[in-house]
Amino acid sequence: MKIRLQVNGVKHEVELEGHERLIDILREKLGVKSVKEGCGTGECGMCAVLVNGTPMLSCLMLAVQARGKKITTVEGLEEDGKLHPLQKAFIETGAVQCGFCIPGAIIVAKGLIDRKRRPSRDEIRRALRSVLCRCGSYLMFEEAVQMVVEGRVE
Ligand code: FES
Ligand code: FES
Repeated sequence: MKIRLQVNGVKHEVELEGHERLIDILREKLGVKSVKEGCGTGECGMCAVLVNGTPMLSCLMLAVQARGKKITTVEGLEEDGKLHPLQKAFIETGAVQCGFCIPGAIIVAKGLIDRKRRPSRDEIRRALRSVLCRCGSYLMFEEAVQMVVEGRVE
């Protein structure tokens, strides 16, 4: 079947089988490599993407469920060649170690600050718990999001 979807502001028409997952279409057919597969079973959060603004696990989603939807990944956050404040804050705080979980963490953080402009530290922590970081960068994640919430990074 063919479906239409929008990825990072670009419209695509994709030929796929009904059983194909969104993560595979993004990575293999559309070349969006920031979307990482950690567990493939909905546990690690590394494959998170925004679907119409809501963080979703692309390893648990059939691609066909994305029909007509707007998908955003970290590649879609920069504007006019300028990194998004969250991207800058993750770099500035040193949150990025091996980097494998970072796209998922930034997407979850983006979903949170879009939903709630000034989340509390506790809300930030709870949201970021959905991403497993094997390097243990959680405190830096929280600090990075806090910096953005408080306008300490542009
Ligand atoms: S790869 Fe999707 S939750 Fe782990
Ligand atoms: S920075 Fe390495 S897994 Fe999170």
